[in-house]
Amino acid sequence: MKTVSSITLTLAVSTFLFFATPRALVAQTDCLGCHGDTSMQDASGHNVGVDAHKFGESIHGVLKCGDCHTTIKDYPHPDQVTPVKCDTCHADEAAGLVGSVHASRAEHPCTSCHGDAHSIFPKTDPRSAVYPLNVPHTCGACHGNDAMAKKHGLPNVYPMYIDSIHGFALSKEGLLVAANCQSCHGSHHILSHTDPLSSTYKVNVPKTCGKCHAGITANYESGVHGKAVAAGHLDAPVCSDCHTAHAIEQPTAAAFRMQSTPICGNCHKEKFSTYRDTFHSQLGSLGGYVETARCWDCHGAHEILPASDPRSPIAPANLVKTCGRCHAGANASFVKYQPHANARNRKLNPALYYVTLFMNLLLIGVLTFFMIHTLLWLIRSRYDQIKARAAKGGKNA
Ligand code: HEC
Ligand code: HEC
Ligand code: HEC
Ligand code: HEC
Ligand code: HEC
Ligand code: HEC
Ligand code: HEC
Ligand code: HEC
Ligand code: HEC
Ligand code: HEC
Ligand code: HEC
Repeated sequence: MKTVSSITLTLAVSTFLFFATPRALVAQTDCLGCHGDTSMQDASGHNVGVDAHKFGESIHGVLKCGDCHTTIKDYPHPDQVTPVKCDTCHADEAAGLVGSVHASRAEHPCTSCHGDAHSIFPKTDPRSAVYPLNVPHTCGACHGNDAMAKKHGLPNVYPMYIDSIHGFALSKEGLLVAANCQSCHGSHHILSHTDPLSSTYKVNVPKTCGKCHAGITANYESGVHGKAVAAGHLDAPVCSDCHTAHAIEQPTAAAFRMQSTPICGNCHKEKFSTYRDTFHSQLGSLGGYVETARCWDCHGAHEILPASDPRSPIAPANLVKTCGRCHAGANASFVKYQPHANARNRKLNPALYYVTLFMNLLLIGVLTFFMIHTLLWLIRSRYDQIKARAAKGGKNA
């Protein structure tokens, strides 16, 4: 009898407590009891449903809802729900975003790249928005948008990238080690290429590409261009000046070989113009594509050295080998041919200068002689005509 009444009392008290105080919501299931309905909407028609299955599989599936929604402890909810701060648990990433180009994003600073807050996966999971193969698409949501590019005065990068050698390798071959946006720009502390601390600031570009292209970067750094850039001469080229940053092509492709000669020529104007006068270039510009010698076939592309350096392919001692790659019979006299012969420069090319001068004088001399000769011939034939007419007398007059 006594036991029964105590049980009744306990039951009554707990029932009273359950209805009299707001419900304390602790477990995921407490929240999902309502929000697990994925079609649930708030008063303004905004979807407030949560896919319990997806959330359970996500990296945060083990967390309680309240670990992120710290101000929601019971129902009814407070009127003003404070936005979730990821900073509390991910201080490093949040600190990285401060001062970056994306710091002032109006949308949620983290979900703009990591996607739906309730289905975040680790970066190694193919379902993650920042899985290497998904990064270009994630960044491309904004950087593949013409209107957005125009608004911020930026190039529309995504379409260029996706057609490049890196984009192709990544999107068509699923090559995880191909460069994605993050490989060159980083993820959280992304800076403009005009900032000297940026991985894409001109001087830092060789190091950025060199994370993967180590061998070529070492060659580049020991050549004249690499040394000049390292010494702070920004007029010398880095990788992206010759290859571009986002539209990188296969360097052996005809299109690259055709357009890269003028790229070297942009800076080496005099050498470009003399190259253009020579057989190799004339051959190359005869409509269509012809396999002829381009600048780097003689100079190398990365470890470029002046002729005075004995290691240079254009050092006099190495010319037979350099030209011999294409001209099987090349010998010491063959390589006397000057690929940059400049007939207008007496100091550099005296023989050519005087030969050209002589040829020009000869040409002018011959032309002048025959002009005078023709003129005299004309006068004479006219004179003969008049004389003949006079001799015929007034017969025709
Ligand atoms: C009894 C049902 C119920 C329970 C339990 C519940 N919610 Fe809600 N929640 C709602 C409703 C209804 C709304 C729509 C808000 C409105 O219209 O006032 C809502 C809205 C929200 C919102 C959006 C607020 C906004 O205005 O943007 C968040 C976030 C939220 N709930 C989180 C939670 C969390 C976290 C829990 C568990 C700790 C939880 N809810 C438990 C019914 C519930
Ligand atoms: C990793 C942190 C995190 C966890 C854990 C989490 N949420 Fe959220 N939730 C967010 C973020 C971020 C938003 C976007 C709005 C904001 O910034 O507050 C959000 C939004 C919401 C909304 C509003 C709907 C919307 O899309 O605007 C509801 C409802 C909600 N969460 C319910 C829940 C429930 C229920 C759980 C537990 C099953 C839960 N959340 C767990 C981070 C979290
Ligand atoms: C501009 C896009 C972008 C924004 C904004 C962004 N992230 Fe990331 N996040 C990335 C990328 C890309 C990766 C993958 C990095 C990698 O592969 O090393 C990443 C990785 C992460 C990782 C895993 C780190 C690791 O090394 O394992 C965490 C945690 C993270 N982000 C949290 C956040 C938080 C928190 C915020 C908001 C403060 C945020 N991210 C904002 C792009 C972004
Ligand atoms: C209550 C703490 C907490 C909050 C708040 C929180 N996370 Fe996490 N997050 C974690 C834990 C714990 C892990 C798993 C850590 C691990 O495995 O290294 C994690 C993992 C991640 C990862 C995967 C890291 C990886 O290995 O690639 C990302 C991305 C991430 N969180 C993003 C966010 C974002 C974005 C927010 C805000 C919407 C957020 N987190 C809020 C605790 C939190
Ligand atoms: C939500 C849209 C959005 C996403 C997603 C986004 N960005 Fe941006 N990004 C912007 C906007 C807007 C700016 C211009 C910011 C400004 O100028 O104030 C910008 C600027 C930049 C800049 C600097 C341009 C310059 O020189 O000033 C770089 C680099 C960049 N983003 C790279 C990335 C990368 C890499 C990713 C993916 C990891 C990414 N962004 C994801 C919107 C986005
Ligand atoms: C192989 C390295 C590399 C990859 C991959 C890469 N970028 Fe870049 N990006 C650069 C460099 C270097 C610059 C500096 C400007 C230049 O040389 O054109 C740059 C500049 C930018 C700019 C600023 C352009 C300007 O002129 O102000 C944006 C925005 C940008 N990148 C976004 C992206 C996005 C989005 C992706 C992925 C779709 C991406 N980048 C992939 C190297 C890269
Ligand atoms: C994350 C690593 C990574 C980074 C960083 C990177 N690349 Fe690449 N790159 C690759 C891979 C992998 C390939 C091979 C793709 C293939 O063959 O399909 C490649 C291919 C190339 C090719 C074509 C090579 C060939 O033989 O066809 C060029 C040129 C190139 N990258 C230039 C650059 C430049 C310039 C930069 C810096 C602005 C850069 N890469 C940054 C990984 C990277
Ligand atoms: C002065 C222009 C120039 C610069 C600077 C330059 N490259 Fe190249 N690169 C070329 C040319 C030209 C080729 C084609 C070479 C060939 O076909 O023999 C090439 C070829 C390549 C290849 C294909 C493999 C090969 O050797 O044929 C890769 C990868 C590459 N470059 C990466 C880089 C990287 C990384 C940097 C910066 C460290 C860089 N390049 C700097 C002009 C340049
Ligand atoms: C962005 C401009 C630029 C581009 C593009 C460029 N160069 Fe240069 N180059 C320079 C500068 C500046 C120097 C002088 C470096 C120094 O200070 O020693 C130089 C030096 C040289 C030298 C050594 C000349 C000497 O007198 O020491 C050779 C050879 C050369 N470049 C060939 C090339 C070839 C071949 C290409 C194309 C594959 C090329 N350059 C593309 C700017 C450029
Ligand atoms: C057929 C081989 C060949 C081709 C093609 C060629 N060069 Fe040269 N280049 C040479 C030789 C040999 C020298 C050294 C003799 C001289 O200066 O004429 C030289 C000298 C130079 C020098 C001066 C180097 C020094 O140490 O003084 C520069 C700069 C240069 N070339 C740039 C270019 C550029 C730019 C192109 C393409 C537009 C190009 N070359 C095409 C063979 C070539
Ligand atoms: C990448 C290949 C290549 C390299 C390297 C090259 N050439 Fe040529 N050269 C050609 C081609 C192709 C022709 C036109 C076909 C022919 O006549 O053999 C040509 C034509 C010529 C001609 C006129 C035609 C002839 O055969 O007499 C001369 C002279 C010549 N090259 C000199 C040189 C010299 C000197 C060098 C080294 C400094 C050199 N070439 C390096 C490909 C090359």
